[in-house]
Amino acid sequence: MFKLDHKSIVITAALVASTTLFTGCFGTSNIAESYNGSVDALDGGVTYPRENGIETAYAYNTQDVSGVNHGRVPTPNELKAWDADIMPDGTGLPEGSGSVELGDELYESQCASCHGEFGAGGKGYPTLAGGSLDSLTNQRTAPGMDAPKRTFGSYWPQASTMIWYIRDAMPYAHPKSLSNDELYALTAYLLNVNEISIDGVEVDDEYVLDREKFLKIKMPNREGFYPNIDGPNGVENVRAFFADRPKNIGAGTKCMEDCKDPNILDGNKEATVMRIGMEISNVVPAYSTVRDLPVEAGTSAKSETEKLYDANCALCHATDAMGAPAVGDHDTWATVVAQGMDKVNSNAINGFGGMPAKGGNMDLTDAQVIDIVKFMVDSSK
Ligand code: HEC
Ligand code: HEC
Repeated sequence: MFKLDHKSIVITAALVASTTLFTGCFGTSNIAESYNGSVDALDGGVTYPRENGIETAYAYNTQDVSGVNHGRVPTPNELKAWDADIMPDGTGLPEGSGSVELGDELYESQCASCHGEFGAGGKGYPTLAGGSLDSLTNQRTAPGMDAPKRTFGSYWPQASTMIWYIRDAMPYAHPKSLSNDELYALTAYLLNVNEISIDGVEVDDEYVLDREKFLKIKMPNREGFYPNIDGPNGVENVRAFFADRPKNIGAGTKCMEDCKDPNILDGNKEATVMRIGMEISNVVPAYSTVRDLPVEAGTSAKSETEKLYDANCALCHATDAMGAPAVGDHDTWATVVAQGMDKVNSNAINGFGGMPAKGGNMDLTDAQVIDIVKFMVDSSK
């Protein structure tokens, strides 16, 4: 059905030469693996392996991120440069126009090396054309049949996401390098290879796309995204599944408004947000349950205790150069703590060995020293 079927045969040979060069520079293997959709997926989405041969819709990151440098906070101007959404209602959509013809040229020179001729994919990068419509709906009710592909033409419900994505992220190595006219041309070309019509007019090889026409695009899968699962068209077992929410979906209620439970009050006498009861488990490696982000360097508010530590103890305890147990040194502090905290606190208050009583500052109260010791111990776990 799709143009790529008949055109691709002609150019396959020429392609082989041009692409082998390219794949050397980019790690394609990860991407290829993560786009392996399972035909059994309930809603046809991409799935990822869990243990015991189970698949999950959620990918977990197996990389070691302990050494990741979280960088700095962007400046307001840097943020503004990227915070330019293109919305389905036309918000943020630039003026401009571009032809399928120009788009074809641009695509050949800037995109085909990764996304394949006519968007056909095949190189480990996302496929941009092909796939069958209605397949999402079918997947929900008849999994395994006619699995959908995540392509622009058959999957994406809005064209605005597409033009926005291309403008902000593509081509991969030079994002934001395309002019508005080039952007329209590439979008026109991708509409063309996906055989999409605008307002009843087919986007053919002569088509010129502009802002006004763009706003009339209705993507084929716009309605198919929300299958009518529990309505009259849903198959019986699926309807039964969704009908018994407490059992199958969890006892909680999903909500987008009035999400607080008036029967449960927390310490501030505020109603708490209702909790949805179904946890995802059985995943290897386990999902992290840590909910806080890494502390930003230099911006965290220090506690009074930490300030006292900085002023009175860090000089000797920041490293082990003075023979003091260095804060953060897990093993050494484990040995210290093994003596029992009463002993450790009393050593810090009264001094012992090279450790002066209260670190040499007799203005500190015993309670303050004990707090600081607790901070040092906690920071060394
Ligand atoms: C060097 C390889 C490379 C080049 C060249 C490239 N892309 Fe991409 N493209 C990618 C990768 C990788 C992704 C997936 C990124 C992600 O998921 O984070 C992607 C994603 C996309 C997507 C989203 C697809 C989807 O379904 O999620 C579109 C649309 C796209 N590219 C269009 C283009 C266009 C148009 C060009 C040329 C102007 C281009 N790309 C050039 C590598 C490339
Ligand atoms: C002049 C350097 C110096 C300063 C300042 C200092 N310490 Fe120490 N601290 C030491 C040394 C050296 C040891 C190791 C003593 C030993 O094992 O003989 C030590 C050991 C300790 C221990 C381990 C005690 C144990 O039982 O093993 C604690 C707890 C401690 N310091 C707390 C503090 C606190 C709290 C402060 C600040 C109020 C502080 N230190 C300031 C040098 C210092």
